[in-house]
Amino acid sequence: MAGNITFSMIKPNSVKSGHIGHILAHISDAGFRIVALKMTRLSLTQARAFYGVHKDRSFFNELVEFMCSGPVVAFVIEKDNAVEEYRKLIGATNPANAADGTIRKLYGVDTQMNAVHGSDSDENALIESNFFFSMRDRFSPEGIELLF
Ligand code: RTP
Ligand code: MG
Repeated sequence: MAGNITFSMIKPNSVKSGHIGHILAHISDAGFRIVALKMTRLSLTQARAFYGVHKDRSFFNELVEFMCSGPVVAFVIEKDNAVEEYRKLIGATNPANAADGTIRKLYGVDTQMNAVHGSDSDENALIESNFFFSMRDRFSPEGIELLF
């Protein structure tokens, strides 16, 4: 594997708004390569587990309900320094504070409906990738299975 990985999801409102293609093109144009990709829908149990770190926050129940409100597009992407580079590409949590040209500035609506999720550390990138994808569903750009 050439670089590091990060995990991301296109959130339900952006899927409904027809932004899947635009967002994936933006990520591709920024030099990330897709390792794994699928459209899926989270159950309440799955969303609570995925966002478990936020379980004591005031927005937890609302966030879980939102993330279950429709399908998401989950993916693993690869690039050198992927976690940090991707956080830069997506911008601040609140789209109003996100830099011009970032995904959240372009496609986000508010702090909750902020277009995409992005892992916040290498450790969580691996945990989150494992949550959605088995090893046999991850591939190098040449189509070779990545056993990590
Ligand atoms: P993410 O995990 O989705 O990439 O977002 P993030 O790191 O920028 O923000 P985080 O603090 O991890 O929050 C996770 C998601 O919870 C929702 N949120 N709502 N209402 C609020 O004050 C609030 N704060 C966070 C957002 O959807 C955020 O992306
Ligand atoms: Mg986060």
